[in-house]
Amino acid sequence: MISFELAGVNFSTPAYNAAGVYDQYAEELNKLGASESSAILMKSCTIEPREGNPEPRYYYNGQVSLQAMGLPNLGHQAYLELIPSLKIYQKPVIASVAGLTVEDNLKMLTDFANSDVDLIELNLSCPNLTGKNQLAYDLAGVSEILIKIKPLCSKKPIGLKLPPFYTRHQIQAYSQIFLNSGLAFITCINSIGNTLVIDIEKERSVLKANNGFGGLSGEYIKPIGLANVRMFYEETAGKLPIIGVGGIETAEDIFAYILAGATGVQIGTKLWHEGPECFKKLNADFSKLMNKKGYSKLIDFQGQLRSY
Ligand code: DHB
Repeated sequence: MISFELAGVNFSTPAYNAAGVYDQYAEELNKLGASESSAILMKSCTIEPREGNPEPRYYYNGQVSLQAMGLPNLGHQAYLELIPSLKIYQKPVIASVAGLTVEDNLKMLTDFANSDVDLIELNLSCPNLTGKNQLAYDLAGVSEILIKIKPLCSKKPIGLKLPPFYTRHQIQAYSQIFLNSGLAFITCINSIGNTLVIDIEKERSVLKANNGFGGLSGEYIKPIGLANVRMFYEETAGKLPIIGVGGIETAEDIFAYILAGATGVQIGTKLWHEGPECFKKLNADFSKLMNKKGYSKLIDFQGQLRSY
């Protein structure tokens, strides 16, 4: 059994798509539905549709994955309207909300909380909006918004998509405010914002938007993702479910995230390059790995990372 439960919602396998990958259009979302992704997570949305940033806005060289997409999305109404048709796949449908203001977030959270969506991920960590701070890095700002959304948390499970943190002190402080917030889960980690790749032949950055700065994903960020999952697991004493994301390429990577404390995982860069077919092999490999290790359920080893 490789299923897991999150806030009373059942996921048949550990892995599904990360927000922002293969999830902007109905056609992609339907393909995720038909695939072995255990859920359908829709693109982070804003109140109004957005085109996103000018191209080139994505770069990949086999290792480094860098993007400055700028939140291209269909607008939250379009995603609300897609929910009934996505529910036919009989797997969780998850909304991702990334409003440009606190008021926008409250409006979208309210609308999704009143919809048939199974869960909501509130994304306060998009790194690619020129002139906008990443609210998730502002502890007081996050605390304020959590107070405002608390009443909605009893209507629908709401989680927070977090950026990477680099000190235990930060993770401790955030853990304290999360524990009594009503949040159903956290998702660690979003891409590492404000990174730069330079093409020395052209003597310019590989991305156009944001002076070339973008969010880093893929295999380089796996150790940071694992550390954030582990530290949040420690600082919340395993009381707040964590969805792990960052550089997962193999069944072994999924295993490592769950061992660190993740309840389930999301796949970003790998899905971007291989498409939703990637879930089939990941699931088969993961089942084999669990058999080889003699585990029958994820909770047999979840969080059980050994210390020396
Ligand atoms: C975008 C990037 C992110 O990392 C995110 O969390 C949300 C949106 C984007 O640029 O589209």
